Amino acid sequence: MQSIYRAISQDSASLCCKVLVFKSCCSQLVSSHCVGAREFRHKEQCLDLTKYTDILIAKASEGNSDQDILRSLFNDPACDGIRLSQKLIQRLLHRFKDDWRSALGIFKWASLQSSFRHSPESYDMMVDILGKMKQMENLRDLLEEMHEAGLVTLNTVAKVMRRFAGAGQWEDAVKIFDDLQDLGLEKNTESMNLLLDTLCKEEFVEQAREIFLELKQHIAPDAYTFNILIHGWCKVRRVDEAQWTIQEMKGHGCHPCVISYSTIIRCYCQEQNFGRVYELLDEMQAHGSSPNVVTFTTIMSALAKAEKIEEALQVVERMRSVGCKPDTLFYNSFIYTLGRAGKVDDATFVFKVMMPSDGVVPNTSTYNSMISMFCHYAQKSRAFEILQEMEHAGLCKPDLQTYHPMIKLCFKTGKIDSLLKDILNDMVNKHHLGLDISTYTLLIHGLCRADRCNWAYSLFEDMIDQDVKPRFKTCRLLLDEVKQKNMFEASEKIEHLMKKM
Ligand SMILES: *[C@@H]1O[C@H](CO)[C@@H](O)[C@H](O)[C@H]1NC(C)=O
Repeated sequence: MQSIYRAISQDSASLCCKVLVFKSCCSQLVSSHCVGAREFRHKEQCLDLTKYTDILIAKASEGNSDQDILRSLFNDPACDGIRLSQKLIQRLLHRFKDDWRSALGIFKWASLQSSFRHSPESYDMMVDILGKMKQMENLRDLLEEMHEAGLVTLNTVAKVMRRFAGAGQWEDAVKIFDDLQDLGLEKNTESMNLLLDTLCKEEFVEQAREIFLELKQHIAPDAYTFNILIHGWCKVRRVDEAQWTIQEMKGHGCHPCVISYSTIIRCYCQEQNFGRVYELLDEMQAHGSSPNVVTFTTIMSALAKAEKIEEALQVVERMRSVGCKPDTLFYNSFIYTLGRAGKVDDATFVFKVMMPSDGVVPNTSTYNSMISMFCHYAQKSRAFEILQEMEHAGLCKPDLQTYHPMIKLCFKTGKIDSLLKDILNDMVNKHHLGLDISTYTLLIHGLCRADRCNWAYSLFEDMIDQDVKPRFKTCRLLLDEVKQKNMFEASEKIEHLMKKM
């Protein structure tokens, strides 16, 4: 080593090369130029990273508790030689994202290394891992540690509160809010809203309301505060309370906005209480918060679902009268809902007449809804007309979803050799669609049932070639079929594959 070092120094190698001398592979070194050496060093760092990752994964996978793991890492000479980096820790946390014991063992071990400090990102990852696994005690300790390092942000607190509330421990979420100042954060409208939102999302709306009544004496609520409560009441289907919240909102000098009203309207729509929906629409307009296209989409979909088609069509009139233009999403929902309700002609009217007259262009989803509807009612030629229209209009391209109902219809009507081949040909050769797992599954299952075992098997092989992993159920089904047909080679191949699953 010494002599090589001297040799290189004398060779007036630059500094960048000298660094490398202390690494092990000397033979490659002597000839390498500076740029090459940098690459080499980079490669070596990568090798180290992989090596360290492997060592730590192996160590951390054994042991019954995080303390066990921590201890075994400590007592290991192999671990002592590991150079820690943020990248290494993040890799390991990612690897152990579903195994909090191993993750925490490694995390604690790394914290105790004198020259190393966890990054805020790693702390947040650890918070996520513990939170997901509902390790509330450990989470509390971690938060404490983060606070000491000055790393607690409102984002961290939000995550922790959400986890507590999600685990049903709403009191703990509130306690975190109470302790905000100890964590170096402020109790203000933003953090109060965060707490209320967390509680409401987990349906602790009554608790949220109690807390709100207490907090509002010190912290000024804003429109967002009330919208959170409105959302909360609607979520637990106590829409009267939500309506009261609107009044309360006005009492506090906050202006109910389109979101406040739309939330309640959605709730009444779910109850199919359209009388109240119209009342609220009037109220909105009277208060100058005009309903928007989202509000109208909700109402129209609910009406169509309740088979009140005339009324649904009138919604479009009402929209126009308030100067709100229907958009693609509006019409897509309309067509989808009408299709679901079996209103084929109404859906066709919307698609062929209303959309063009409003100048709303269809997209792939629109066409797909039409095709799916026609296929569902076995109107094959109308489905194909739509597909052709789609191809000719050139506004958008068909996707796999476009073809699924058509494939199903082929199987249903037994038009396999004639039609299915053409469809597949179009998909692959005309539109260059790569088949995905659900398409392959649909095809293979259908073909097996239609007694086209050879075809099914060739698609299966195709699937493997394309690196699409078949489901176990598909293998099972196909295996039974090929065995019945005495296709020995095929059955061996499938069995071999199944063993590896
Ligand atoms: C079609 O348009 C709607 C509304 O803009 C959108 O939500 C949907 O994702 C679009 N569908 C496709 C397949 O692009």
